[in-house]
Amino acid sequence: MNQEQNNLITRVGPGTACGALLRSYWQPAALVDEFDPALDPRMAQRPVKAVRLLGMDLVLFRSADGSWGLLDRACPHRGADLSFGRNEGDGLRCPFHGWKFDVDGRCLETPAEPLGSKLCERVRQRSYPVIERSGVLFAWLGDEDSTPPPFPEFDCFAAPASHSFAFKGLWQANWLQAFEVGIDPAHPSFLHRYLQDEPLEAIGGNAAGKQFRSASAGAVGGEQWPMTRIMREFPRPEISFETRPWGMQLTALRPMTEALTHVRVTQAIFPATFVIPLSETLTITQMHLPVDDTRTYWYAFFTSFAAPLDKAAMREQRTQFIALPDYIPKSGRHNDWGFRTEEQLTQTYLGMGQEDINLHDQWAVESMGAIQDRTLEHLGTSDKVIMANRRVLVKAIETVRSGGVAPGIADAAQAGEMRGPDTVDGIAPAGEWPHWWVQQARDKRAHAPWLAKADAKAELA
Ligand code: FES
Ligand SMILES: [Fe+2]
Repeated sequence: MNQEQNNLITRVGPGTACGALLRSYWQPAALVDEFDPALDPRMAQRPVKAVRLLGMDLVLFRSADGSWGLLDRACPHRGADLSFGRNEGDGLRCPFHGWKFDVDGRCLETPAEPLGSKLCERVRQRSYPVIERSGVLFAWLGDEDSTPPPFPEFDCFAAPASHSFAFKGLWQANWLQAFEVGIDPAHPSFLHRYLQDEPLEAIGGNAAGKQFRSASAGAVGGEQWPMTRIMREFPRPEISFETRPWGMQLTALRPMTEALTHVRVTQAIFPATFVIPLSETLTITQMHLPVDDTRTYWYAFFTSFAAPLDKAAMREQRTQFIALPDYIPKSGRHNDWGFRTEEQLTQTYLGMGQEDINLHDQWAVESMGAIQDRTLEHLGTSDKVIMANRRVLVKAIETVRSGGVAPGIADAAQAGEMRGPDTVDGIAPAGEWPHWWVQQARDKRAHAPWLAKADAKAELA
């Protein structure tokens, strides 16, 4: 890859070709939690937050009636920062000269102007549509005169509040390298390797915090295996992928014995989301929001297909490692991501802690540099998904540049096909894994209290 290509696929600010592609999709702008006074006391008095999305400075605020406003941050009068504005319940007022804007960007008042002034009618602040889904506020940053696409019906959005939990964290690096770590089926055998396994009973109900430590579905001679053991003992997966309406379905096979094959199916939702299994009944859907070219927020949706989630416990577990109110990881380049030689020698392959698996990925993403220099890399067979995704990305950028529709954008009819997508991590009878995993996924869905009805309806339709 040459420098020009690398620039093309990584730069996302206004006016860039890749930025135009990413503006074809709903993008996560903030967690609803960020406006919860219990988590950020400032929000009790003034629910206003500065946000930066795709290299643009915006202000997000909540009106007294509960509606959300997302406006350009620079006041259209003389450019002061509206994120310091006075939230008056029915609009946000710039403290410089008192101009006031509602959630749609309409100018309500210009109080320093002479009585009877019509200036207000000629001023409009750019506003962006906001939708709340599964604890996240999504923004649509596409052209002002165009219509946002329908929202896909993925499980992470279909699950009720009781069965979903959203969290996020900031990485100091470009969005694409964050996504490329997530869709890399080879790395868990190394980056997330534990040199010893924890007894499965010790995981208990805590799968949400212990990725790769719970059991794979299925058994070896009647014995359940933790994912960590399979990842460690079978580090050379056979990787394949298939095109799906939302992107790619990824399969990593690890033949274990003559009779058994470990199968891990994950999903890449174009352009920046992956779905992976966390346990037999939990999935993570992780999206990557480019703050700008060199910073990325990951947004993770935890979706339970069984019991309701203990959100307070999940939040507490994560806030040990990530500091509110801006969701900044406590470890990073400044402290060598918490690296300890002793741990690397005796406990983990990486040496950056056992509890926060997310930090392992953070290191991989950030240590490459703010924008990975892809002119210097050497890709292998195990990088085939990364290569395929880059080809799709370049093509999609060209499609949008020439006025076409970005891939995976559902029209109303397609939105119904954008379901699932299913994942699995399990030990299958060798040769039967293609049926085995589909059956596993079907069983999981059939047992999800919130899903059975919706699925049945879709099958009838
Ligand atoms: S700059 Fe905002 S009112 Fe003057
Ligand atoms: Fe990872």
